[in-house]
Amino acid sequence: MQINPLGTIQGKFTLYLSGLIVVIMSGLSFWAISREKRLIENAIIREGKALVESFAVSCTNTLMYEEIGLIDEGGLLDSYISDLMQKRSPRVEYALVVNVKGKVIAHSNPYETGNTYQDYITRRALASWETLVQRPSAFLLDISAPLAISTKRWGTLMVGISLEEMRNEISTLALKYVLFTILFIIVAIAVNAFLFGLITRPLKALAEEMDSVRFRNDVSARPVERRDEIAVLQQSFYRMLKNLKAEEAERERTQRNLFLTEKMAAIGKLTAGVAHEINNPLGGILNCIYHFKKGGQSAGKQVEYLNLMEDGVRRIQQRVKNLLEYARHPNPERSATDFRFLAERSLSLLEYQLQHKRIKVELEIPADIPTVEIDGDRIGEVLVNLFLNAVQSMPEGGVLRVVAQVVADRFVVTVSDTGMGIPEEILPQVCDPFFTTKPAGKGTGLGLWLSQVIVEGHAGTLHIASRQGEGTKVEISLPFINRGVL
Ligand SMILES: Nc1ncnc2c1ncn2[C@@H]1O[C@H](COP(=O)(O)OP(=O)(O)OP(=O)(O)O)[C@@H](O)[C@H]1O
Ligand SMILES: [Mg+2]
Repeated sequence: MQINPLGTIQGKFTLYLSGLIVVIMSGLSFWAISREKRLIENAIIREGKALVESFAVSCTNTLMYEEIGLIDEGGLLDSYISDLMQKRSPRVEYALVVNVKGKVIAHSNPYETGNTYQDYITRRALASWETLVQRPSAFLLDISAPLAISTKRWGTLMVGISLEEMRNEISTLALKYVLFTILFIIVAIAVNAFLFGLITRPLKALAEEMDSVRFRNDVSARPVERRDEIAVLQQSFYRMLKNLKAEEAERERTQRNLFLTEKMAAIGKLTAGVAHEINNPLGGILNCIYHFKKGGQSAGKQVEYLNLMEDGVRRIQQRVKNLLEYARHPNPERSATDFRFLAERSLSLLEYQLQHKRIKVELEIPADIPTVEIDGDRIGEVLVNLFLNAVQSMPEGGVLRVVAQVVADRFVVTVSDTGMGIPEEILPQVCDPFFTTKPAGKGTGLGLWLSQVIVEGHAGTLHIASRQGEGTKVEISLPFINRGVL
């Protein structure tokens, strides 16, 4: 069987575990990175503040001394600024001194000196009387300290401190977490593969064993070597095989018994049917023999008895012959047959019953119906059987209708009656041999079965439609041999 690796339990487990590791590691790294960032940033701010405040003191002194004429500034501020710019930790991006108006007195970039700044950052720095930390961009801090003594203010020292270093550290940290995550996933997959190997290898071995075991093998003799859950499974499997074997044997036994019972029942029915068919004429024959033994009959009476006995023996012979013949399904002896003649002859055999029960016969056979290649004797028997069933279903009279027609290259005969009909539940059984609803001695249950055997022997079909209380319609469809249909 072709298995998609992600469809296996191991595949799914690995996938889910990897997902879980990714989620946990992402959460963990987010938390750790934010914490680290905060710590580094705080440290930089602390250092930056200390740096700026210490330089602010020198700058204030310089500006104050200059104002009182003690010294000439003469580049002192510039030298502080250039000292500041030498700082590597924290790294200084820019440094400048602005007076209270925002005019640049000294700047790390000499070209800026003399310009006046009115930007937001500078305005806020000038307005603040304390060291102020601002963030002009994501990776830049602006730390400013007022150059003042008490309420006297000369300006502000503004220093830009880079957070680039922090960014690098954070990136390194994030990379570490990604690498750890990948490592964890690889370890998880390896551990998974190993653990699943422990489970699936014996399972596969068991599956192969299951495949190789022949159902009828004596499996109970096989030892179970393992001492784990797989062993339990293995034992269950062997137990199941044993049970199946036992059940199979039981089923075979029951089937054999059933077959024998059915056979006995069939023989019973056959015997009853044959006995009935044979017993009647035998009774007549015995009666004749009895009279013969008694003697004293006229010659004419003796001839009559002999004729009756001959007739009885012939009936028995015919019945036995029929049964044997149909049991062997012999081929019909076909010859071109005039169906109208056949139907009329079959009806004439029942003339007495038809008249007696006041049954109206409707024969619908077109004058130009073609002759059909059939075994006239056999199909005649079928008609008699069907007519008899119809007559027996109409004890109070009714209509017996026989229609013959050519439908789509087949010769179709329908025999319908207005009798009692067949209950739906027994309809599928009426063609079974020995199925009868008639009282013992009245019907053998062979009529429809024989009819079906004969029709099928002609490569035809026999279909019965019936509705209880409304009547029955039997349709026989036969192929035209001489028309090249078969
Ligand atoms: N035209 C019909 N109307 C009502 N029931 C029918 C008709 N034809 C057959 N059956 C039912 O089908 C059963 C089987 O018919 P089938 O001809 O095989 O046997 P049978 O008539 O009982 O006995 P046999 O024909 O051997 O004397 C009948 O017992 C009857 O119940
Ligand atoms: Mg019958």
